[in-house]
Amino acid sequence: MASSTMLSTGRSSPAAFMGNTKKLGPAAGRRGRDFFLKGKNFGRVRMAVAVNVSRFEGVSMAPPDPILGVSEAFRTDTSDVKLNLGVGAYRTEELQPYVLNVVKKAENLMLERGENKEYLPIEGLAAFNKVTAELLFGADSPVIKQGRVATVQSLSGTGSLRLAAAFIQRYFPDAKVLISSPTWGNHKNIFNDARVPWAEYRYYDPRTVGLDFEGMLEDIEAAQDGSFILLHGCAHNPTGIDPTPEQWAKIADLIEEKNHIPFFDVAYQGFASGSLDVDASSVRTFGSRGLELFVAQSYSKNLGLYSERIGAINVVCSSPDAAARVKSQLKRIARPMYSNPPVHGARIVANVVGDPSLFNEWKQEMELMAGRIKNVRQRLFDNLSEKDNNQKDWSFILRQIGMFSYTGLNKAQSDNMTDKWHVYMTKDGRISLAGLSLAKCEYLAEAIIDSFYKVS
Ligand code: LMR
Repeated sequence: MASSTMLSTGRSSPAAFMGNTKKLGPAAGRRGRDFFLKGKNFGRVRMAVAVNVSRFEGVSMAPPDPILGVSEAFRTDTSDVKLNLGVGAYRTEELQPYVLNVVKKAENLMLERGENKEYLPIEGLAAFNKVTAELLFGADSPVIKQGRVATVQSLSGTGSLRLAAAFIQRYFPDAKVLISSPTWGNHKNIFNDARVPWAEYRYYDPRTVGLDFEGMLEDIEAAQDGSFILLHGCAHNPTGIDPTPEQWAKIADLIEEKNHIPFFDVAYQGFASGSLDVDASSVRTFGSRGLELFVAQSYSKNLGLYSERIGAINVVCSSPDAAARVKSQLKRIARPMYSNPPVHGARIVANVVGDPSLFNEWKQEMELMAGRIKNVRQRLFDNLSEKDNNQKDWSFILRQIGMFSYTGLNKAQSDNMTDKWHVYMTKDGRISLAGLSLAKCEYLAEAIIDSFYKVS
């Protein structure tokens, strides 16, 4: 970097002036320092030269994001066979991004109506907040009928989790959040940045590539009473392994007994099983017990609104009065963070969910997307079973649900997938089946078998 001459007014802060610029001549340097030590501002104009040293010397290079960084690496690969199974984003059989027809129709409606771009209230679009809570809990559920849910539109799943984390930090400063091991790569960042302490509960059993249910219960039991328990509502990310309805009931028993607060992350409602109600059943199990709980919602996957950043935080409270107070505080936290949320995605959701004909069409499109992922899952299993001379049991892939499969590949094996086969995936062994086509399953099966057996 070339040196440059800088003009300082002498009103700079000591740190800014002394840290990284050199005054003209030693005497000038001493004088400058003396001024600061005395803490006086003489209002003089001083000349200073910046010499190849930035004020940002102390800023180190951040590592690439474990998920979104995979897409960045994918873009720079020039291979024809490359495959991006990193980020959880739905692609068509031609591996192209997909905009749902109902989304296009809702956007046309918005254009026809000539809707304006005024600020939304801090809590978001009222029509969105109404339909999103009803979609989650069921319009006839007691929590909705009794007005016990505080719903605030937020910036998709991440923004909703972050808002709730800030609320926990402010109102439950002594509480810990328990997170599944493993979990979605961003959960820990969210609670770290919000300064909310967290610990892990066992979830994944590498021996069975299934749920470690006993371990999960033991860890939830051992946690201090009144802890927050972060649960994936459906299609656990990254494992694709969900508790059964009976297991959910036992988890709810224990959480109730321990006076814990369930905190659901619902990023795939309708997208996991193809049914909105089935995918909300875990949350509803807890809601119907009269428990107070948090639920973060996202429309990135089920409506394909990834870049619209549309979702909500819902806090179920024991009374409408508590819900009103909680909502007022969530708004208070949101205002200095991002002021108020964006309107476009909220209107799309409100139009689709609030209109019976668009709603039905959405359900059909969602079934199609979920169905394509199930077909790919089956084909991958078939190809793996056919190609594997060692007859390993790959059926765990069929038992997983949602857009991901947790392959059980370790970091070195995942690296081999990328370095040798140009298959981009997260280093925890997760692949996004939503980014896979039937045509590419055979190639992927070969890559997995090679990596699994040839790399330790
Ligand atoms: C994923 O897990 O791939 C998605 O939820 C995208 C993201 O933001 O990480």
